[in-house]
Amino acid sequence: MIDESTCWYNPKCHEEMIRGANGEPWPVLEKSSHWPALKELLEDIPVDKANIKFLLDLGCGAGSLGAAEIVKNNFYYIGVDLSDVIVNVARKVNPVQSYLHCNMLNSNLKFLPTFGDVVVMNAFIDVMPDPVNMLIDVLDNCTKYVIIHRQFVIDGPTNVKKTSSYGGFTYISHINRLEFDNAIRHFKIVKEIGTGLGKDNYSYLLERFKS
Ligand SMILES: C[S@@+](CC[C@H](N)C(=O)[O-])C[C@H]1O[C@@H](n2cnc3c(N)ncnc32)[C@H](O)[C@@H]1O
Repeated sequence: MIDESTCWYNPKCHEEMIRGANGEPWPVLEKSSHWPALKELLEDIPVDKANIKFLLDLGCGAGSLGAAEIVKNNFYYIGVDLSDVIVNVARKVNPVQSYLHCNMLNSNLKFLPTFGDVVVMNAFIDVMPDPVNMLIDVLDNCTKYVIIHRQFVIDGPTNVKKTSSYGGFTYISHINRLEFDNAIRHFKIVKEIGTGLGKDNYSYLLERFKS
């Protein structure tokens, strides 16, 4: 059963998400301390050479990534999130972009190969109640490039805790490095960068091995 008590399902928290996307109480995406890491990974994708067109942003929140210059200039952006988050947050903050209403926990993920030349997960896997299996399910359906941005990967055991978020709570996960390496085994790590958001917090650009 899906746990709908987290902030992502709570309309009051959606108002907080709008405030967050507008620069309160932390900087907007392109002015954030972790943006250089994400931008660097996006710059490393050979858009012209590899027939890369679509970028799917799983757990897009306000869709701020779609408004970034590097994304607008290089990709057709599609944000993916819970229906209420699309309606109450993304469409209000960034109305001109394209969105897919999708609860990733109970959806068929076969749409990913069609639109996911690049699949970005920015602080998405880490809010999942079962992050390793979510990561495996997503990667099973990714055929080209994947960016995992802002994920804790640790030497100790995988753990999922609750933490305050947007006036409610969310899950926050730390994934064991061996489990992480196993989940991404069909992909080459093109680049791994520390985000600066604390010890063990990383961003990855992955490219699927040719079969
Ligand atoms: C920490 S926020 C990150 C938002 C955005 N990527 C960003 O960095 O600003 C996590 C996002 O995952 C979304 N999310 C949580 N559970 C989800 C689910 N089951 N299916 C789709 N999206 C989900 C939330 O609604 C939220 O927008």
